[in-house]
Amino acid sequence: GSCHLSWIYPLVPLLFLLGPEDTGVYAVEALDICTCLLRWPPQTTTGGGWDSRHWSPRSPRPGRRLTAECQQGILEASKARDVPIIIDADGLWLIAQHPALIHGYRKAVLTPNHGEFTRLSDAVLRDLVDGSDHREAVRRLSQALGNVTVVRKGERDVMSDGEHVLECAHEGSSRRCGGQGDLLSGALGVLVHWALHAGPEKTNGSSPLLLAALGACSLTRQCGHQAFQKHGRSTTTTDMIAEVGPAFRRLFET
Ligand SMILES: *[C@@H]1O[C@H](CO)[C@@H](O)[C@H](O)[C@H]1NC(C)=O
Ligand SMILES: *[C@@H]1O[C@H](CO)[C@@H](O)[C@H](O)[C@H]1NC(C)=O
Repeated sequence: GSCHLSWIYPLVPLLFLLGPEDTGVYAVEALDICTCLLRWPPQTTTGGGWDSRHWSPRSPRPGRRLTAECQQGILEASKARDVPIIIDADGLWLIAQHPALIHGYRKAVLTPNHGEFTRLSDAVLRDLVDGSDHREAVRRLSQALGNVTVVRKGERDVMSDGEHVLECAHEGSSRRCGGQGDLLSGALGVLVHWALHAGPEKTNGSSPLLLAALGACSLTRQCGHQAFQKHGRSTTTTDMIAEVGPAFRRLFET
């Protein structure tokens, strides 16, 4: 399983689109996380694992903000269980305040946009890198965080595990819709889980998290591309989510 530290609405359709049999444990963990979000504060959720008996299938209200305390609790619980964790949006704000929370946790993936990337770099790097060299800037930020995987979203997505740097410039949509980042996080959650389970012979020695990041960026862009072809300027994230299945087949199953 993996934990997505932002709000989770794109995660659930992804799980059902891709099929619970493919995602296995992940689905259970995702439901537990949903429950955990719905049932915070921690005294109701800690002790003997997350209690999922009272799970109700509704997502948290869009735009609902988790408190820093809640996020920190989820982070620590995920680390204690060795669960991969995808950090976006508000979660990145927390990391910029307290980088030690994630330092060296090799199952974390951070997905900052330009502004969030700058804030994180200002927080953890003593001397800033030349801003135009995105590859080096991403590698340096990853290293400063103890080699956690960093995916800098942008015109090209640039990602690094502190050693290797990959870029994704797969053709996407010319329209950016709100919630697109959540689709990326959801895809990352699933692909990180798969990559970690695939084992080193399938990932050919590369970091499974880095490969998952490349796959998730490509998938998100492919969804955007297909949705844009159908809906043009009125494309919404819901249209993109509807393309997850076909985009996945086109990219990874042909
Ligand atoms: C991070 O990776 C780099 C490059 O492989 C390595 O030199 C460095 O020691 C690593 N840092 C940690 C904290 O593992
Ligand atoms: C696997 O890694 C080796 C060594 O880096 C490389 O020569 C080979 O081409 C890779 N195989 C695939 C399928 O990428």
